[in-house]
Amino acid sequence: MLQLANKRILLGISGGIAAYKSAELVRTLTKAGATVRVIMTAGAMEFITPLTLQALSGNPVHHALLDETAEAGMGHIELARWADTILIAPASADLIARLAAGMGDDLLTTVCLASSAPLCLAPAMNQQMWAAATTKNNLSTLARLRGDALALFGPGSGAQACGDIGLGRMLEPEAIAQQLADRFVSGTLAGKQVVITAGPTREALDPVRYISNHSSGKMGYALAQAALEAGAQVTLISGPVSLPVPERITLVPVTSAADMLTASLATLGQCDVFIASAAVADYRPAAVAEQKIKKAGDEIQLTLVKNPDIIATVAHHPQRPFSVGFAAETHDVDSYARDKLERKNLDMIIANDVSRQDIGFGAENNAVTLYSRHGTTEFDVMNKTLLARQLIAAIAQQLKAQ
Ligand code: C5P
Repeated sequence: MLQLANKRILLGISGGIAAYKSAELVRTLTKAGATVRVIMTAGAMEFITPLTLQALSGNPVHHALLDETAEAGMGHIELARWADTILIAPASADLIARLAAGMGDDLLTTVCLASSAPLCLAPAMNQQMWAAATTKNNLSTLARLRGDALALFGPGSGAQACGDIGLGRMLEPEAIAQQLADRFVSGTLAGKQVVITAGPTREALDPVRYISNHSSGKMGYALAQAALEAGAQVTLISGPVSLPVPERITLVPVTSAADMLTASLATLGQCDVFIASAAVADYRPAAVAEQKIKKAGDEIQLTLVKNPDIIATVAHHPQRPFSVGFAAETHDVDSYARDKLERKNLDMIIANDVSRQDIGFGAENNAVTLYSRHGTTEFDVMNKTLLARQLIAAIAQQLKAQ
Protein backbone atom coordinates (compact mmCIF):
# COMPACT_ATOMS: atom_id res chain seq x y z
CA MET A 1 0.00 0.00 0.00
CA LEU A 2 1.13 3.51 -0.81
CA GLN A 3 2.70 5.16 2.26
CA LEU A 4 3.36 8.86 2.60
CA ALA A 5 2.44 9.28 6.28
CA ASN A 6 3.71 12.57 7.79
CA LYS A 7 5.21 13.73 4.49
CA ARG A 8 4.78 17.35 3.41
CA ILE A 9 4.39 17.52 -0.34
CA LEU A 10 4.41 20.84 -2.14
CA LEU A 11 2.64 20.16 -5.42
CA GLY A 12 3.42 22.59 -8.22
CA ILE A 13 1.02 22.62 -11.15
CA SER A 14 2.03 24.28 -14.40
CA GLY A 15 -0.05 24.97 -17.50
CA GLY A 16 -1.02 21.99 -19.60
CA ILE A 17 -4.01 19.84 -20.36
CA ALA A 18 -2.69 17.16 -17.97
CA ALA A 19 -3.44 19.59 -15.09
CA TYR A 20 -6.87 17.97 -14.83
CA LYS A 21 -5.10 14.85 -13.49
CA SER A 22 -3.55 16.92 -10.67
CA ALA A 23 -6.87 16.84 -8.83
CA GLU A 24 -6.71 13.05 -8.69
CA LEU A 25 -3.03 13.27 -7.73
CA VAL A 26 -3.87 15.45 -4.70
CA ARG A 27 -6.45 12.87 -3.61
CA THR A 28 -3.98 10.00 -4.03
CA LEU A 29 -1.27 11.79 -2.05
CA THR A 30 -3.57 12.78 0.81
CA LYS A 31 -5.08 9.28 0.98
CA ALA A 32 -1.54 7.93 1.40
CA GLY A 33 -1.15 10.16 4.48
CA ALA A 34 0.68 13.17 3.02
CA THR A 35 -0.11 16.81 3.75
CA VAL A 36 -0.36 18.58 0.42
CA ARG A 37 -0.06 22.28 -0.39
CA VAL A 38 -0.57 23.40 -3.96
CA ILE A 39 1.13 26.15 -5.95
CA MET A 40 -0.36 26.92 -9.37
CA THR A 41 1.19 28.90 -12.19
CA ALA A 42 -0.95 31.37 -14.12
CA GLY A 43 -1.05 28.82 -16.96
CA ALA A 44 -2.34 26.07 -14.66
CA MET A 45 -5.28 28.25 -13.63
CA GLU A 46 -6.44 28.31 -17.26
CA PHE A 47 -6.98 24.55 -17.04
CA ILE A 48 -8.21 23.86 -13.50
CA THR A 49 -9.59 26.05 -10.72
CA PRO A 50 -7.74 26.71 -7.45
CA LEU A 51 -11.03 26.00 -5.66
CA THR A 52 -10.98 22.33 -6.74
CA LEU A 53 -7.44 21.86 -5.44
CA GLN A 54 -8.15 23.77 -2.26
CA ALA A 55 -11.12 21.50 -1.54
CA LEU A 56 -9.14 18.33 -2.25
CA SER A 57 -5.96 19.32 -0.41
CA GLY A 58 -7.76 20.94 2.51
CA ASN A 59 -5.31 23.85 2.28
CA PRO A 60 -5.43 27.24 0.60
CA VAL A 61 -3.89 27.23 -2.87
CA HIS A 62 -0.95 29.54 -3.50
CA HIS A 63 -0.33 31.34 -6.78
CA ALA A 64 0.72 34.98 -6.34
CA LEU A 65 4.31 35.89 -5.60
CA LEU A 66 4.00 39.45 -4.44
CA ASP A 67 0.54 39.60 -2.93
CA GLU A 68 0.89 38.64 0.75
CA THR A 69 -2.83 37.98 1.26
CA ALA A 70 -2.93 35.78 -1.82
CA GLU A 71 0.02 33.91 -0.37
CA ALA A 72 -2.59 32.80 2.16
CA GLY A 73 -0.60 33.52 5.29
CA MET A 74 2.40 31.46 4.16
CA GLY A 75 5.05 33.43 2.29
CA HIS A 76 7.29 31.90 -0.38
CA ILE A 77 10.18 31.35 2.03
CA GLU A 78 7.93 29.55 4.54
CA LEU A 79 6.55 27.37 1.75
CA ALA A 80 10.08 26.60 0.56
CA ARG A 81 11.08 25.54 4.08
CA TRP A 82 7.86 23.69 4.77
CA ALA A 83 8.22 21.15 1.96
CA ASP A 84 9.81 17.72 2.41
CA THR A 85 9.64 17.41 -1.36
CA ILE A 86 8.50 19.60 -4.24
CA LEU A 87 6.60 17.67 -6.87
CA ILE A 88 5.68 19.43 -10.11
CA ALA A 89 2.97 17.65 -12.08
CA PRO A 90 2.43 18.47 -14.82
CA ALA A 91 5.82 20.07 -15.51
CA SER A 92 5.51 21.91 -18.84
CA ALA A 93 8.40 22.59 -21.24
CA ASP A 94 8.18 26.26 -20.30
CA LEU A 95 8.41 25.54 -16.58
CA ILE A 96 11.41 23.23 -17.08
CA ALA A 97 13.10 25.97 -19.12
CA ARG A 98 12.49 28.56 -16.41
CA LEU A 99 13.79 26.21 -13.70
CA ALA A 100 16.91 25.42 -15.72
CA ALA A 101 17.59 29.13 -16.18
CA GLY A 102 17.21 29.77 -12.44
CA MET A 103 14.36 32.19 -12.99
CA GLY A 104 12.10 33.35 -10.20
CA ASP A 105 9.41 35.08 -12.23
CA ASP A 106 6.45 33.49 -10.46
CA LEU A 107 5.70 31.86 -7.10
CA LEU A 108 6.47 28.29 -8.19
CA THR A 109 9.91 28.98 -9.69
CA THR A 110 10.79 31.26 -6.78
CA VAL A 111 9.90 28.57 -4.22
CA CYS A 112 11.96 26.01 -6.17
CA LEU A 113 14.95 28.38 -6.04
CA ALA A 114 14.46 29.09 -2.35
CA SER A 115 14.02 25.48 -1.24
CA SER A 116 16.60 22.84 -0.41
CA ALA A 117 13.95 20.12 -0.73
CA PRO A 118 14.33 17.51 -3.47
CA LEU A 119 12.52 18.35 -6.70
CA CYS A 120 10.49 15.76 -8.62
CA LEU A 121 9.17 16.55 -12.08
CA ALA A 122 6.40 14.74 -13.93
CA PRO A 123 6.75 16.25 -17.41
CA ALA A 124 3.77 16.58 -19.72
CA MET A 125 3.99 18.05 -23.18
CA ASN A 126 3.56 17.36 -26.87
CA GLN A 127 5.97 14.66 -28.11
CA GLN A 128 7.78 17.11 -30.41
CA MET A 129 8.34 19.51 -27.51
CA TRP A 130 9.65 16.65 -25.36
CA ALA A 131 12.01 15.60 -28.16
CA ALA A 132 13.23 19.16 -28.73
CA ALA A 133 16.95 19.65 -28.18
CA THR A 134 16.27 22.70 -26.00
CA THR A 135 14.03 20.70 -23.65
CA LYS A 136 16.66 17.92 -23.46
CA ASN A 137 19.34 20.53 -22.82
CA ASN A 138 17.27 22.20 -20.07
CA LEU A 139 16.71 18.85 -18.35
CA SER A 140 20.36 17.88 -18.46
CA THR A 141 21.29 21.31 -17.04
CA LEU A 142 18.82 20.78 -14.18
CA ALA A 143 20.10 17.24 -13.59
CA ARG A 144 23.72 18.45 -13.50
CA LEU A 145 22.94 21.34 -11.13
CA ARG A 146 20.67 19.44 -8.78
CA GLY A 147 22.27 15.97 -8.78
CA ASP A 148 20.42 13.47 -6.58
CA ALA A 149 17.97 16.16 -5.55
CA LEU A 150 16.22 15.94 -8.94
CA ALA A 151 13.97 13.08 -10.06
CA LEU A 152 12.04 12.68 -13.29
CA PHE A 153 8.82 10.70 -13.17
CA GLY A 154 8.03 9.78 -16.77
CA PRO A 155 6.84 10.96 -19.17
CA GLY A 156 4.95 8.01 -20.59
CA SER A 157 4.12 7.44 -24.21
CA GLY A 158 0.83 7.02 -26.02
CA ALA A 159 -1.93 9.06 -27.58
CA GLN A 160 -1.75 12.75 -26.73
CA ALA A 161 -4.51 15.31 -26.29
CA CYS A 162 -3.29 17.09 -29.43
CA GLY A 163 -3.74 13.94 -31.52
CA ASP A 164 -0.03 13.02 -31.72
CA ILE A 165 1.29 9.70 -30.52
CA GLY A 166 4.60 9.52 -28.67
CA LEU A 167 6.52 10.32 -25.49
CA GLY A 168 5.29 13.24 -23.42
CA ARG A 169 2.18 12.03 -21.59
CA MET A 170 2.11 12.72 -17.86
CA LEU A 171 2.17 9.49 -15.83
CA GLU A 172 -1.05 8.49 -14.10
CA PRO A 173 -1.49 9.96 -10.57
CA GLU A 174 -1.10 6.53 -8.92
CA ALA A 175 2.25 5.93 -10.66
CA ILE A 176 3.52 9.41 -9.73
CA ALA A 177 2.53 8.93 -6.08
CA GLN A 178 4.20 5.51 -6.02
CA GLN A 179 7.48 6.83 -7.44
CA LEU A 180 7.36 9.65 -4.91
CA ALA A 181 6.77 7.24 -1.99
CA ASP A 182 9.68 5.09 -3.20
CA ARG A 183 12.01 8.06 -2.79
CA PHE A 184 11.36 8.31 0.94
CA VAL A 185 13.49 5.91 2.92
CA SER A 186 10.82 4.11 4.84
CA GLY A 187 7.23 3.87 5.88
CA THR A 188 8.14 1.03 8.23
CA LEU A 189 6.26 2.50 11.20
CA ALA A 190 3.35 3.95 9.24
CA GLY A 191 0.21 4.12 11.35
CA LYS A 192 2.05 3.20 14.56
CA GLN A 193 1.99 5.26 17.75
CA VAL A 194 5.48 5.62 19.19
CA VAL A 195 6.18 7.11 22.62
CA ILE A 196 9.72 8.11 23.55
CA THR A 197 11.05 9.35 26.89
CA ALA A 198 14.10 11.58 26.66
CA GLY A 199 16.46 13.81 28.60
CA PRO A 200 17.10 13.96 32.33
CA THR A 201 14.59 14.28 35.15
CA ARG A 202 14.89 16.88 37.91
CA GLU A 203 14.10 15.89 41.48
CA ALA A 204 13.32 18.90 43.62
CA LEU A 205 15.01 19.42 46.98
CA ASP A 206 13.34 22.73 47.73
CA PRO A 207 11.73 25.48 45.61
CA VAL A 208 15.06 26.44 44.02
CA ARG A 209 17.23 23.30 43.99
CA TYR A 210 17.15 19.90 42.38
CA ILE A 211 19.13 16.72 41.74
CA SER A 212 19.66 15.81 38.09
CA ASN A 213 22.19 14.48 35.56
CA HIS A 214 23.98 15.51 32.35
CA SER A 215 21.68 13.82 29.83
CA SER A 216 21.33 16.08 26.74
CA GLY A 217 18.29 14.32 25.30
CA LYS A 218 19.98 14.15 21.87
CA MET A 219 19.53 10.40 21.40
CA GLY A 220 15.83 10.50 22.32
CA TYR A 221 15.15 13.51 20.08
CA ALA A 222 16.99 11.80 17.18
CA LEU A 223 14.89 8.66 17.74
CA ALA A 224 11.71 10.76 17.71
CA GLN A 225 12.75 12.32 14.38
CA ALA A 226 13.64 8.94 12.89
CA ALA A 227 10.31 7.43 14.02
CA LEU A 228 8.51 10.38 12.43
CA GLU A 229 10.42 9.84 9.18
CA ALA A 230 9.37 6.19 9.31
CA GLY A 231 5.74 7.30 9.33
CA ALA A 232 4.84 6.98 13.03
CA GLN A 233 2.76 9.34 15.19
CA VAL A 234 5.31 10.33 17.79
CA THR A 235 4.89 11.51 21.39
CA LEU A 236 8.06 12.72 23.05
CA ILE A 237 7.93 12.84 26.85
CA SER A 238 10.90 15.03 27.60
CA GLY A 239 12.68 16.15 30.71
CA PRO A 240 14.26 19.66 30.65
CA VAL A 241 16.72 19.90 27.73
CA SER A 242 17.97 22.73 25.56
CA LEU A 243 17.05 21.21 22.20
CA PRO A 244 14.68 22.84 19.71
CA VAL A 245 11.07 21.67 19.95
CA PRO A 246 10.70 19.21 17.09
CA GLU A 247 8.00 19.83 14.50
CA ARG A 248 5.15 17.39 13.91
CA ILE A 249 5.90 15.57 17.17
CA THR A 250 3.65 15.80 20.24
CA LEU A 251 5.93 17.10 22.96
CA VAL A 252 4.96 16.44 26.58
CA PRO A 253 7.35 18.41 28.77
CA VAL A 254 7.90 16.94 32.24
CA THR A 255 10.22 17.67 35.14
CA SER A 256 10.40 14.81 37.64
CA ALA A 257 10.41 11.02 37.30
CA ALA A 258 6.93 10.97 38.86
CA ASP A 259 5.65 13.36 36.14
CA MET A 260 7.33 11.23 33.48
CA LEU A 261 5.66 8.09 34.82
CA THR A 262 2.21 9.72 34.84
CA ALA A 263 2.67 10.99 31.27
CA SER A 264 3.94 7.57 30.15
CA LEU A 265 1.07 5.60 31.68
CA ALA A 266 -1.43 7.99 30.07
CA THR A 267 -0.26 6.82 26.61
CA LEU A 268 -0.90 3.11 27.22
CA GLY A 269 -3.74 1.67 25.22
CA GLN A 270 -2.83 3.83 22.22
CA CYS A 271 0.88 3.13 22.24
CA ASP A 272 2.45 0.51 19.94
CA VAL A 273 6.11 1.12 20.74
CA PHE A 274 7.58 2.64 23.92
CA ILE A 275 11.22 3.66 23.87
CA ALA A 276 12.78 4.72 27.17
CA SER A 277 15.83 6.79 26.36
CA ALA A 278 15.44 9.16 29.33
CA ALA A 279 18.09 9.23 32.03
CA VAL A 280 15.61 9.00 34.88
CA ALA A 281 16.96 9.90 38.31
CA ASP A 282 17.05 6.65 40.28
CA TYR A 283 16.34 8.44 43.57
CA ARG A 284 14.54 11.58 44.69
CA PRO A 285 14.63 13.50 47.95
CA ALA A 286 12.30 11.85 50.47
CA ALA A 287 10.68 15.20 51.14
CA VAL A 288 10.66 18.47 49.20
CA ALA A 289 11.25 21.39 51.57
CA GLU A 290 8.50 23.98 51.21
CA GLN A 291 10.95 26.81 51.70
CA LYS A 292 14.53 27.25 50.58
CA ILE A 293 16.83 25.13 52.76
CA LYS A 294 19.05 27.55 54.68
CA LYS A 295 22.79 27.15 54.93
CA ALA A 296 23.63 25.84 58.43
CA GLY A 297 26.35 23.43 59.61
CA ASP A 298 29.34 22.01 57.66
CA GLU A 299 27.42 18.92 56.68
CA ILE A 300 23.94 18.21 55.55
CA GLN A 301 22.17 14.86 55.33
CA LEU A 302 19.82 14.16 52.45
CA THR A 303 17.47 11.19 52.54
CA LEU A 304 16.69 9.85 49.10
CA VAL A 305 14.00 7.36 48.16
CA LYS A 306 13.81 5.20 45.07
CA ASN A 307 11.95 6.49 42.02
CA PRO A 308 9.55 4.25 40.12
CA ASP A 309 11.13 2.41 37.19
CA ILE A 310 9.16 3.83 34.26
CA ILE A 311 10.07 1.34 31.53
CA ALA A 312 9.67 -1.64 33.89
CA THR A 313 6.21 -0.37 34.91
CA VAL A 314 5.20 0.11 31.26
CA ALA A 315 6.61 -3.25 30.16
CA HIS A 316 4.81 -5.16 32.96
CA HIS A 317 1.50 -3.39 32.32
CA PRO A 318 -1.43 -5.45 30.95
CA GLN A 319 -1.54 -3.05 27.98
CA ARG A 320 2.19 -3.30 27.42
CA PRO A 321 3.48 -1.97 24.09
CA PHE A 322 6.62 -3.22 22.33
CA SER A 323 9.10 -2.03 24.96
CA VAL A 324 12.62 -0.80 24.34
CA GLY A 325 15.06 0.31 27.04
CA PHE A 326 18.54 1.72 27.16
CA ALA A 327 21.45 0.65 29.35
CA ALA A 328 24.30 3.06 29.90
CA GLU A 329 27.09 1.11 31.57
CA THR A 330 30.72 1.73 32.47
CA HIS A 331 31.67 -1.98 32.74
CA ASP A 332 30.28 -5.50 32.18
CA VAL A 333 27.98 -4.00 29.54
CA ASP A 334 26.89 -7.37 28.20
CA SER A 335 25.77 -8.99 31.45
CA TYR A 336 24.05 -5.85 32.82
CA ALA A 337 22.19 -5.36 29.56
CA ARG A 338 20.94 -8.96 29.43
CA ASP A 339 19.91 -8.77 33.07
CA LYS A 340 17.85 -5.58 32.42
CA LEU A 341 16.23 -7.11 29.34
CA GLU A 342 14.89 -9.94 31.53
CA ARG A 343 14.18 -8.06 34.74
CA LYS A 344 12.38 -5.13 33.12
CA ASN A 345 10.46 -7.45 30.74
CA LEU A 346 11.72 -5.65 27.62
CA ASP A 347 11.59 -6.67 23.98
CA MET A 348 14.87 -4.91 23.30
CA ILE A 349 17.62 -3.11 25.12
CA ILE A 350 20.16 -0.77 23.57
CA ALA A 351 23.40 -0.73 25.53
CA ASN A 352 26.33 1.64 25.39
CA ASP A 353 29.61 1.94 27.18
CA VAL A 354 29.60 5.37 28.85
CA SER A 355 33.16 5.00 30.09
CA ARG A 356 34.24 5.95 26.55
CA GLN A 357 34.87 9.70 26.13
CA ASP A 358 33.96 9.91 22.43
CA ILE A 359 30.40 8.61 22.64
CA GLY A 360 27.26 8.68 24.76
CA PHE A 361 26.12 11.45 27.11
CA GLY A 362 26.09 14.85 25.41
CA ALA A 363 28.24 13.66 22.47
CA GLU A 364 27.21 13.88 18.80
CA ASN A 365 28.09 10.23 18.21
CA ASN A 366 27.17 6.96 19.79
CA ALA A 367 28.01 3.27 19.38
CA VAL A 368 25.65 0.68 20.80
CA THR A 369 24.81 -2.98 21.00
CA LEU A 370 21.21 -4.01 20.60
CA TYR A 371 20.03 -7.04 22.60
CA SER A 372 16.72 -8.72 21.96
CA ARG A 373 15.15 -12.13 22.43
CA HIS A 374 16.46 -12.96 18.95
CA GLY A 375 20.14 -12.13 19.43
CA THR A 376 22.48 -9.15 19.44
CA THR A 377 23.47 -6.57 16.83
CA GLU A 378 26.44 -4.19 17.01
CA PHE A 379 26.16 -0.61 15.72
CA ASP A 380 29.58 0.97 15.28
CA VAL A 381 30.35 4.64 16.16
CA MET A 382 28.15 6.95 14.12
CA ASN A 383 26.27 10.19 14.38
CA LYS A 384 23.15 9.98 16.56
CA THR A 385 20.81 10.85 13.66
CA LEU A 386 22.07 7.97 11.53
CA LEU A 387 22.12 5.61 14.48
CA ALA A 388 18.55 6.56 15.39
CA ARG A 389 17.40 5.67 11.85
CA GLN A 390 19.06 2.27 12.07
CA LEU A 391 17.63 1.57 15.52
CA ILE A 392 14.13 2.55 14.36
CA ALA A 393 14.54 0.22 11.35
CA ALA A 394 15.55 -2.62 13.70
CA ILE A 395 12.59 -1.91 16.00
CA ALA A 396 10.17 -1.81 13.04
CA GLN A 397 11.52 -5.10 11.74
CA GLN A 398 11.04 -6.93 15.04
CA LEU A 399 7.65 -5.37 15.59
CA LYS A 400 6.55 -6.71 12.21
CA ALA A 401 7.95 -10.15 12.95
CA GLN A 402 5.90 -10.43 16.17
O1 C5P B 1 18.25 0.52 35.44
P1 C5P B 1 18.79 1.57 34.54
O2 C5P B 1 18.53 2.97 34.98
O3 C5P B 1 20.19 1.37 34.09
O4 C5P B 1 17.93 1.30 33.22
C1 C5P B 1 17.99 2.13 32.13
C2 C5P B 1 16.71 2.03 31.35
O5 C5P B 1 15.58 2.10 32.18
C3 C5P B 1 16.56 3.19 30.41
O6 C5P B 1 15.77 2.76 29.31
C4 C5P B 1 15.80 4.22 31.25
O7 C5P B 1 15.11 5.15 30.45
C5 C5P B 1 14.87 3.31 32.02
N1 C5P B 1 14.53 3.80 33.36
C6 C5P B 1 13.23 4.17 33.62
N2 C5P B 1 12.88 4.58 34.88
C7 C5P B 1 13.80 4.63 35.85
C8 C5P B 1 15.12 4.28 35.60
C9 C5P B 1 15.46 3.87 34.33
O8 C5P B 1 12.39 4.12 32.72
N3 C5P B 1 13.45 5.05 37.06
